[in-house]
Amino acid sequence: MSFTEKQIAISSRIKEGKGFSVVVDGKKIVVFRYKGELFALRNSCPHQGALLSDGFAQNEQAVCLYHGWRFNLKDGAFDNNPILKIPTYAVYEKDGFVFLKIPDDFLTGDV
Ligand code: FES
Repeated sequence: MSFTEKQIAISSRIKEGKGFSVVVDGKKIVVFRYKGELFALRNSCPHQGALLSDGFAQNEQAVCLYHGWRFNLKDGAFDNNPILKIPTYAVYEKDGFVFLKIPDDFLTGDV
């Protein structure tokens, strides 16, 4: 799978433990900073569609603020049933900016 990269934020805007919301090519993405590292996931809780960016990062999980569902920051797995996963994306920082690696099937696939 190949990727394109897109600058999505200034690094300082993404605070420890908080979610940062961004729309990339029409898809809602949330970026969390946890223990200094960045993680990007689809910004939609599969329970009732709330924005995960309203929640927070804790214990290596993204926590939905509305009913407390938790998803692994690395692979998007739901803690009560790891078969259920939300898409995750590669993200990195360089020179004070945050970049998302966008897979080729970003717009067509559920990734
Ligand atoms: S909408 Fe996320 S836990 Fe209910």
